[in-house]
Amino acid sequence: RPRSPSGFDTIPLEFFQDYPEPGVNFIDVGCVFDNPTHWQLAIDALTERTAHLDVDFLLAMDARGFMLAGALAYQRGIGFAMARKPGKLPGAAIGIDYRREYGSATIEIQPERIKGQRVLIVDDVLATGGTIEAAATLLRRIGKDAVGAAALFDVAFFKDKRDLTMPVVTLRDV
Ligand code: PRP
Ligand code: MG
Repeated sequence: RPRSPSGFDTIPLEFFQDYPEPGVNFIDVGCVFDNPTHWQLAIDALTERTAHLDVDFLLAMDARGFMLAGALAYQRGIGFAMARKPGKLPGAAIGIDYRREYGSATIEIQPERIKGQRVLIVDDVLATGGTIEAAATLLRRIGKDAVGAAALFDVAFFKDKRDLTMPVVTLRDV
């Protein structure tokens, strides 16, 4: 199996212009998932690039963050919880509304499912940072440390427009 974390830098990517709305050039992360070599390169690179972060739990962002966090949690031997769109989690979920690259959104977590203290947030793409900052706010509300965030792709347009409260690891600019 591939063991070259830098190999992820050169895999071919697929974009959809004007999706989901005009002006957005959408990176289709499915193009990483559907090729086993590319998928292994992605997870190996994500594992290596986040290895220095002292975390004991992951928070997986709905929906493409689920696969990435699941694989990363397996590699690190730690647990993970899902941050989900509203109405999907049973029990005492807490939520937050936030702004994203396009439009607004809401995410929820189950506080009881966050079994660690030092949490790494995992998503597929970082754009404005609204999604990971919303997740960090929820984590802090329940007394957890938002140690950082990790994503495969970094939308370069937003790089100098973000006000992030934690370090982020991204593998490739798009
Ligand atoms: C994308 C991506 C991140 C978010 C990043 O989600 O999956 O979650 O945008 O943007 P931000 O940094 O501006 O918050 P998308 O809007 O495609 O929704 P989905 O993941 O629910 O499909
Ligand atoms: Mg998303």
